[in-house]
Amino acid sequence: MSHTVRRYDFDAPDTAYRELARDLAALLSGERDLIANAANTAALIYDALPYLNWAGFYLYKSGELVLGPFQGKPACVRIAIGKGVCGTAAARRETVVVEDVHAFPGHIACDSASNSEIVVPLLRGTELLGVLDVDSPLHARFGAADAAGIASLAKIFVASLG
Ligand code: SME
Repeated sequence: MSHTVRRYDFDAPDTAYRELARDLAALLSGERDLIANAANTAALIYDALPYLNWAGFYLYKSGELVLGPFQGKPACVRIAIGKGVCGTAAARRETVVVEDVHAFPGHIACDSASNSEIVVPLLRGTELLGVLDVDSPLHARFGAADAAGIASLAKIFVASLG
């Protein structure tokens, strides 16, 4: 598929995220299945963004976050709301960017290669669907352009579900 071979130039992050958002919308168009679209979103992000070791979803089920489709090493399955970076983003319903995960109180280490992380909540109106979690082996990998760009990808994913 053409989506998986395209390269994005993150020296110009706003343009790269705009192109990636356009490609994600095309990739998900015409399909509303949650697992299929989460799997393709995780795969596209993992393939497109440089310096990642994990990208994927935790879905909100029965009051906790449960591991969903992802790319990277096997990860912990259940995260309580309010725990770790994922649970914190879910509880606050806002994006959490962590420059050094080892300095984040309560960080849940799934892959020891992770040094920085961004977690974006997935909201449909006020309903919490889960979180999109992206990890990097670099320190302070994620800045303001990444926060805005990854939030725009999360929005496209939520919109695809109808
Ligand atoms: N580090 C996350 C847990 C998920 S893994 O990084 C895939 C956290 O603290 O919530």
